[in-house]
Parts: sequence; structure tokens; C-alpha cells
Amino acid sequence: MRNDIYRRPLATALERVGLKAGWHCVDLGAGAGDVSVALAELVGREGRVYAVDSDPRARDAVAKAAAAAGGAQVVAVTQAGEDLTLPETVDLAYCRFLLLHVLEPKVVLARMASVLGPGGYLLAQEPVTSAGRIDGEPMSMPEARHPDVGALLPRLVREVGLELVDSWAEAPAGAGPGAVATYLEELTEVDPKDASVILPPLVTVIGRRS
Ligand SMILES: C[S@@+](CC[C@H](N)C(=O)[O-])C[C@H]1O[C@@H](n2cnc3c(N)ncnc32)[C@H](O)[C@@H]1O
Repeated sequence: MRNDIYRRPLATALERVGLKAGWHCVDLGAGAGDVSVALAELVGREGRVYAVDSDPRARDAVAKAAAAAGGAQVVAVTQAGEDLTLPETVDLAYCRFLLLHVLEPKVVLARMASVLGPGGYLLAQEPVTSAGRIDGEPMSMPEARHPDVGALLPRLVREVGLELVDSWAEAPAGAGPGAVATYLEELTEVDPKDASVILPPLVTVIGRRS
């Protein structure tokens, strides 16, 4: 569901970095591997995607999703982002909805930067939860450690030594039955009915290793 709702920001960002066949990538905090599989389809047989998650259950989910998509180039790894090490440098280090949950977002971003080859891109997409609205009222996500980490991303990417290539925010919105209402209900267990919903904007940041 998350993949459907936030598909547009993902597609825009991948186009902006110019993801190509043959690229090697890491999807950190891969979860069930929706993005890993999307990346694998784009990098093709010559490419590779490391799907890394600290939860060992994610490995099976990713392997299943990759097999269903015929993606032999997805390598599922159980590892904390704070300890990220890979057998090679990569062209793209990606994360989405990860940094709001980690203890220190900057530490994880620094690990992502450290696995980039020269000219490699860091692409992070994280929310500003409190900027979401239900009929004008702010949302909150008290269980996340850094629910508004998206608002800090541009500065953090520069602080880990990368060139800030681009950054923007996008928020899916809607009213009444539809994908936005269904997603919000999944997230909060509350049906927004006919309320006007602005989901938390996702801040995309693109950093580059010079
Ligand atoms: C909300 S899910 C996001 C999944 C996926 N990135 C997406 O956008 O659909 C967050 C994922 O991050 C993982 N995670 C949380 N803390 C982590 C850490 N410190 N290192 C690596 N993965 C972590 C969780 O296990 C979970 O699978």
C-alpha cells in the first residue's frame, strides 16, 4: 500500500538521479522489499540490489518478493543501518521511512555515504509527519523516534560530507473513499470518512559523493 501511495515520489526521484541498467544499489530498511524489487527491475540483470534490514524476518519477505518478480539480482541482508558494510561500493544508497525509526539518523546517513563509490548518489525519502492534515488538523506519530526527520534531511546530507544535489517535498492528498483514505486507515486504524486528508509530506533528498 505504501508503495502505491508513494510511488510518484519514488519514480520522480529515481528519474532525477538517472538510475540506469547495471547500477549496484542498496535499499536500507528494505522491509518487505517493495522498493528493492522496483530497483532490481530497473537495474536489470547486470545490476544488483542489496536489500538490508535489521529485522531478520525481512530477509524471507524480500527473498519471496524478489523471486516472484524473477529478480535474482536482489541480495537480502540482515544488518543494522548503523553497521552498514557491503562487499563493494554502490552507485545508489536508498532509504525510505527508515530514519524516523532509528536512534541517530545522521549516523545511518553517514554509513550510507560511506558505501558510495565516487559520483554515487544517496537518496533518502522521509516524512514530516506533523505536516500531514486531517480536515486541517495536524497528524502525529508518537511511536516514531524522529517523526519529522524529513524536515532535517537537506542539512544532514551536507553534514555527512555529500554535495546536496536536489531536495523537495511531496504529499499525496485526497477526500472520501480511495487509496489515500485506505492508507491512512491502515496507518491509524481510523477511517477518515469524507475528511480532507493530506498525508505526511515525504521529503526527498539527493546527495552525491564527489
Ligand atoms: C516503515 S518500514 C519501511 C520499509 C520500506 N523502506 C518502505 O518504504 O516500504 C521500516 C523498516 O526499517 C527497518 N529498520 C528499523 N530500524 C533499522 C535499523 N536501525 N537498521 C536497518 N533497518 C531498520 C525495520 O525493520 C522496517 O523493516
